[in-house]
Amino acid sequence: MTEVDLADWGARRRRRFAPDRWGTLVCRAVWDETADMRSFFLTPQDGSRIEHASGQFMTFRIDTPEGRIERCYTIASSAARDGGIEITVKRQAGPGARWLHEMLVPGAEIEALGPSGRFGPATWHGSAYALIAAGSGITPMLSILRTAADRGLDLDVVLMQVVSTPQDLVALTELDSLARRLPRLVHLPTITRGPGGTRPDADFLTRVMPDLATRTVLCCGPQPFMEMVRVAAQAAGVPDDRYGEESFDFSAPPPEALGGGDTPRRTVTFARTGHAFECAETTTILTALKQAGLPLPSSCARGMCGTCKTFKHAGEVVMAHEGGIRQREIDRGFILPCVSRPLTDIILDC
Ligand code: FES
Repeated sequence: MTEVDLADWGARRRRRFAPDRWGTLVCRAVWDETADMRSFFLTPQDGSRIEHASGQFMTFRIDTPEGRIERCYTIASSAARDGGIEITVKRQAGPGARWLHEMLVPGAEIEALGPSGRFGPATWHGSAYALIAAGSGITPMLSILRTAADRGLDLDVVLMQVVSTPQDLVALTELDSLARRLPRLVHLPTITRGPGGTRPDADFLTRVMPDLATRTVLCCGPQPFMEMVRVAAQAAGVPDDRYGEESFDFSAPPPEALGGGDTPRRTVTFARTGHAFECAETTTILTALKQAGLPLPSSCARGMCGTCKTFKHAGEVVMAHEGGIRQREIDRGFILPCVSRPLTDIILDC
């Protein structure tokens, strides 16, 4: 008979998975949500617990046949349960997602960094919420609802779940059960294809959510969908401080100003290798570094995933990140070169 480890049953407090260092997670279970959406339950290999807020994500290091990539996936599980995390991934979401579907089986290991990110009620406050999700954008919303139910919060929330066909609705049965635990949850499944399919445009949004202006709106889905929701929310009167969105479309990083001849330039030096290169004040350090042919691991190029995090020994930068770095890491001297522009000469720990 196997001896029971009390820590497995929550009888002992385990230490926390370090969010600012790459660590190893072990896949414990895999199951299909729909024909192309698969969920994975992962726990830290060292027995620590992952502490996260609803709406946060983790960055995963994936060795595909084409090479190493980093990808972010939102945590779908409840933040009230810290034994491990659940992610739900659409197969067609790119090479990282394909690898997960094919290779991440129970017992397999994967490197992860985080949790990170500021999407969710911990950042976007409100007394009532509109959660608007398209496709796999449902995953942070599931975490928010699961957490609210586990914590016994009487959340006033409308969930719009936009999918192509009824077969694409993730967690349909569970959402019914969540609605019993969250009496003010209104679930609006919205099917876009087939006879009677709905076009989820601004008119539709304000028709089915006439009180949109009074809610904090959280939106996750493809970029064009989020743009439509953002414009509709603004037109309905939702202020900027009550509208949050999240996307992991890394295919098109924001356009980069390269700086003309009269733009002040700063010298960026690598403390370990002695490499040095020029970077205009309007250019991100990552862009200048790539132009100089120097390597630095990076993924999203928008300050979200944390992959490029680097210690800065000296100098000042202006950094506009999207949750890929914590305040206490900034206080300790770390920066994200992909969204940092130099104000002075810089020395990095590379
Ligand atoms: S590459 Fe993602 S935060 Fe810099």
